Amino acid sequence: MPAGGSLSYSLKYVVRLRTLGRNSVCGQRLFSFIGDMTLLSSFRHTFRRAYQALALAVLPLLLGGWTRGPQSTFQTEGPVAKSQLDLFYITLWVCGILFVLVAGVLAYGTLKFRGTDSDAEKAPPEQSHGNPLIELGLIAVSVVALVVIAVPTLRGIWYTYDVPEAEKANAYEVTATGYQWWFKFEYPKEQIEGAGALVTSNELVIPAGRPIRINLRTVDVIHSFWVPKLAGKVDMIPNRGNHLWLQADKPGYFWGQCAEFCGESHAVMRFRVIALAENEFNAWLAKQKSPARTATPLPNPDQPRMQFAAYTYEKQKRNAPGWTQEFVTDPFVSWIKKQELATNENLQLVDAGRKLFVEKKCAGCHVVRGHEGAGITGPDLTHVGARTTIAGGLLENSEKNLHRWLIEPGEVKPGNKMWNGGYNIRNDQGVWEQQIFINDTEARALVAYLHSLK
Ligand code: CUA
Repeated sequence: MPAGGSLSYSLKYVVRLRTLGRNSVCGQRLFSFIGDMTLLSSFRHTFRRAYQALALAVLPLLLGGWTRGPQSTFQTEGPVAKSQLDLFYITLWVCGILFVLVAGVLAYGTLKFRGTDSDAEKAPPEQSHGNPLIELGLIAVSVVALVVIAVPTLRGIWYTYDVPEAEKANAYEVTATGYQWWFKFEYPKEQIEGAGALVTSNELVIPAGRPIRINLRTVDVIHSFWVPKLAGKVDMIPNRGNHLWLQADKPGYFWGQCAEFCGESHAVMRFRVIALAENEFNAWLAKQKSPARTATPLPNPDQPRMQFAAYTYEKQKRNAPGWTQEFVTDPFVSWIKKQELATNENLQLVDAGRKLFVEKKCAGCHVVRGHEGAGITGPDLTHVGARTTIAGGLLENSEKNLHRWLIEPGEVKPGNKMWNGGYNIRNDQGVWEQQIFINDTEARALVAYLHSLK
């Protein structure tokens, strides 16, 4: 409702409330009910205490909780998110001022003119049919308030729609595709001989300080692309080519999230954006374009080999994420460390893992370019060892988490297409059949192999 409209409505409401309080049967009943309520004063006291305690508990959440955290839109790190936040504040201020004005008049009128018992006998007050000058004035104020919101809104829509003309030449292009439940990222400018464009998944690496134009696609249902601190959100719609642009002001590590319900694991369909300085980005590109790495023997044969701890998994809540404190403190540092080679690789395990990658049919859905596999329905794993997250950004890419992800994928991320010990495919008789089973030892070998793929 426009500002003037609601203010004028509130004034009328005050007059009607007075009349109601004095004259109507209903009103008298209401007031006598309120009188009866004094009998319940001890109840009211307890209730008020509980209410105050609740309000006190919620207040810090309102003030602090919403404005911080890796997915907060209140801490912007790029011009698109900044323009969206600025617009939010303009709207908040205009609506906030109107709220205080309207609610203030309403509260003042309600208290000042509230009916009393003696009013019941009196005649109704003189009826008013409005004041044209006040009503026209309020309409004018409403129009001004709407214009104050509309101008920056339209400007914001225009700005966030596409890279500004002056910066188009400098923009870098990426294609993001939504899958249930992970994101594929393609770099159309980075062509690899015999393999097409460079493909990675779940971690979008971009150059900082440059506009990134992202084509948005989906292979199945509607997803939505959102990086709260950089930009968002735009839907990925079947058979429709959407796009958005974003820019990270400086190098950093940002959280992304699918923002459109897309099935049972929608809430954990995440991704990351890693912004690098231009030279580091180019070095990263060169490394990504190279085929998968083959682990090499350690220079010193006596050096201790990678050992895997015996993992026991407590029953966890479904979708429970697993993060180390180091990662929580500074994920960007974790990402940089992930690019380095392990100094204690266990070649036997790595070799065994590479064989299992084919035997266990991983290669049917995934590709490790230069090694085995041609599958494109799952994420490209050519350099999976250099990513900080697995399972669509749900888990940190640690030995224990990857081991668990291979052993019980359905438990980690319900409904996903990784097969292990589940009953995922119907046989000819229509019975759900166990397809693939990976035991503890095999999972260790696969972890060693996948983590060698830096
Ligand atoms: Cu994809 Cu929600």
